[in-house]
Amino acid sequence: MAFFSKDLGIDLGTFFTRLADDNEVLFTEHTIVAVEVEAQKMVAAGEEAQNMLGRVPEETIEVVRPLVNGVISDYEVTEALLRWMLDKVSGPMRFFGPRVMITVPYGVTSVEGRAVHEAVLQAGAREAVPIYQPLAAALGVDLPINSPAGNMIVSLGAGATQVAVISMYNIVSGETIRSGGSRMDEAISAYVRRKYGVIIGLPTAEQLKIKIGAAVPQDDERSLDVQGQDQVTGLPKPVTLTTSEMVEALQEPLQQVVETCRRVLEKTPPELIADVIDRGVALTGGGALLRGMDKLLTKSLGIPAYVVDNPLTCTVEGAARAWTIYPALQRTLPRV
Ligand SMILES: Nc1ncnc2c1ncn2[C@@H]1O[C@H](COP(=O)(O)OP(=O)(O)OP(=O)(O)O)[C@@H](O)[C@H]1O
Ligand SMILES: [Mg+2]
Repeated sequence: MAFFSKDLGIDLGTFFTRLADDNEVLFTEHTIVAVEVEAQKMVAAGEEAQNMLGRVPEETIEVVRPLVNGVISDYEVTEALLRWMLDKVSGPMRFFGPRVMITVPYGVTSVEGRAVHEAVLQAGAREAVPIYQPLAAALGVDLPINSPAGNMIVSLGAGATQVAVISMYNIVSGETIRSGGSRMDEAISAYVRRKYGVIIGLPTAEQLKIKIGAAVPQDDERSLDVQGQDQVTGLPKPVTLTTSEMVEALQEPLQQVVETCRRVLEKTPPELIADVIDRGVALTGGGALLRGMDKLLTKSLGIPAYVVDNPLTCTVEGAARAWTIYPALQRTLPRV
């Protein structure tokens, strides 16, 4: 039983939710819940629920992703998931709930922000404070955002892409688009269907992206055989894809990322741009792991881009760490 309240950070993501205290990441879980339809009761969450996807009778058990493009689409399920997570770290018998700093995408509406705030409180937190995701990520990679200088960070998530220029803990210019890694998987699936007349599922498309995908042509050209279904006959049909085909398939979603960065730079005051050119553009989120993502942005923006050391965990680490500088941050946090 935990008698003393903890200070936690939660990175509530479309595919993954991560939880940390100011020492370490405590866990990463799939943002997914299995609900018994008749009783409307949660029967599994996280990885266990993920494994039930497509494998359980839909009439009895519904497997739900409660977040879409980074924002809550199913409030009750989000609350149940958060409660399950908080119970995992402090036990259901906790005396005082923890204080939770939780990420919301930059640019969320006040209604969306309030839903996150409310869900964490209902899930058992003593206090809940939303923080913009790019600000948390910047704290987690130790960018010098306390100084009056421009720091640019790009977060490439599964459901959203967020770009921000931060100075004095403030997002000076930023934009979120509701498109991310999932959009890339869709683009790959559409490409394979168009070119080969073969239907592949989104998990297969994601595997292609992760294993052989790239943002720009690579010297190390790879290939992968996957199983699909013939569009006409419906029969199983294998198909071999290559890295250069992935680059081609990903052009449209990649261009969206580039355009978003350009628009943010256009809105950024020149002095801060000068700092960004000196310091480079920090790439975070799962999408930063796409081979050549840094090269693509460096070339398209004319500013050096680099992948941070902890692209998957920086956001939750930053959210947890934000408690240590809470007074300095307060003025820049989203209002709820
Ligand atoms: N090596 C890789 N190459 C390309 N994409 C990758 C790679 N590894 C993971 N991804 C993608 O990263 C995404 C997951 O990243 P992340 O955990 O940052 O998202 P999230 O926080 O759940 O989503 P969001 O922040 O948009 O709400 C998935 O779309 C996944 O396919
Ligand atoms: Mg994320």
